[in-house]
Amino acid sequence: MNEQQFIPKKYSNTIDTGKFSWSSPSNIALVKYWGKKQDQLPENPSISFTLENCKTITTLSFSNRNLTSDFSFDIYLDNEKKDDFKPKIETFFKRIEVYLPFLKNYHFVIETTNTFPHSSGIASSASGMSALAMCLMSLEKQLNPEMTTSYFNQKASFLARLGSGSACRSVEGDLIVWGHHENIEGSTNLYGIKYPYEVHDIFKNYQDTILLVDKGEKQVSSTVGHNLMHNHPFASERFKQAHENLDELIQVLKNGDVNSFINIVESEALTLHAMMMTSLPYFILMKPNTLEIINKIWKFRNNTGLPISFTLDAGANVHVLYPEKHAAPILEFIKNELVAYCQNGHYICDKIGFGAKQL
Ligand code: DP6
Repeated sequence: MNEQQFIPKKYSNTIDTGKFSWSSPSNIALVKYWGKKQDQLPENPSISFTLENCKTITTLSFSNRNLTSDFSFDIYLDNEKKDDFKPKIETFFKRIEVYLPFLKNYHFVIETTNTFPHSSGIASSASGMSALAMCLMSLEKQLNPEMTTSYFNQKASFLARLGSGSACRSVEGDLIVWGHHENIEGSTNLYGIKYPYEVHDIFKNYQDTILLVDKGEKQVSSTVGHNLMHNHPFASERFKQAHENLDELIQVLKNGDVNSFINIVESEALTLHAMMMTSLPYFILMKPNTLEIINKIWKFRNNTGLPISFTLDAGANVHVLYPEKHAAPILEFIKNELVAYCQNGHYICDKIGFGAKQL
């Protein structure tokens, strides 16, 4: 497997104008991606649940134009022109141009909206970059109608990765592995693949209630955080640990051992934040209420024996994970005891989903 497979040969078709719409979800990592080489090549493999409700909906309209040396596009969020998003898209287009050589032949209008509030602390880069990658692949499929669905999805994930690493895990569901792991067949640093082994019923329809602890802009972006893993004193041990955790997770996912699942997932979340706290410069993204929630979850789990757990992404919000069959008492607990720690009492009920959809 290498990048060359995504450089197209001559296209058999032409198309002048058109438009495609896709919705693409966010995802939540169980084993975390934290640390990368150039172009979002990950330092360790990661695995995530694809989500269902938190998603970006993007419409890409295109019209042929005379080739010039620049990209030509406008971008709108919720019908409002967003010129401040342009540099990020420009960088993305530059990175993927060799794989989509038609990019400069068109003027694009990108219209995008998120199902979750913009100021929710939920990153829209995974859902946003994957939705745009899907739209671009729909255009490429028009130019090359023989393209197979598996190539379409692989290349969409590959392109999404070049926009934002974790975006490559949003194309499909329900469990996605990204990054080479010696015991996971087909796993690669280039794009996400569907987890290829047996998964116990307890992990189907897993619930993720996202507690919005802090809806503000993060003080440290993920990209800066990833880069602080270069020369990090614990980096090599951490990368090794991610391989081991994924190895263990293969057994756990198969035999339905929820307690071991909880240990791996919570340790991964806290290790991610420990890496941030031990970087130079160091930083903390958790808030006091993040810790309040974690302690409440542990107490409730001890008292009830219910398999509730948490994970964190690069922010203060808490993802509460639990099997669907225990949803009633756990939701009750969340409403009665955890929502008080959320900013303005806001939380989002989500669950495992199955990836991007064409609209
Ligand atoms: C903590 O994918 O947002 O959510 O590749 O620089 O765009 P870039 O970073 P991003 O990093 C996400 C990191 C994480 C863990 C994870 O999703 O695996």
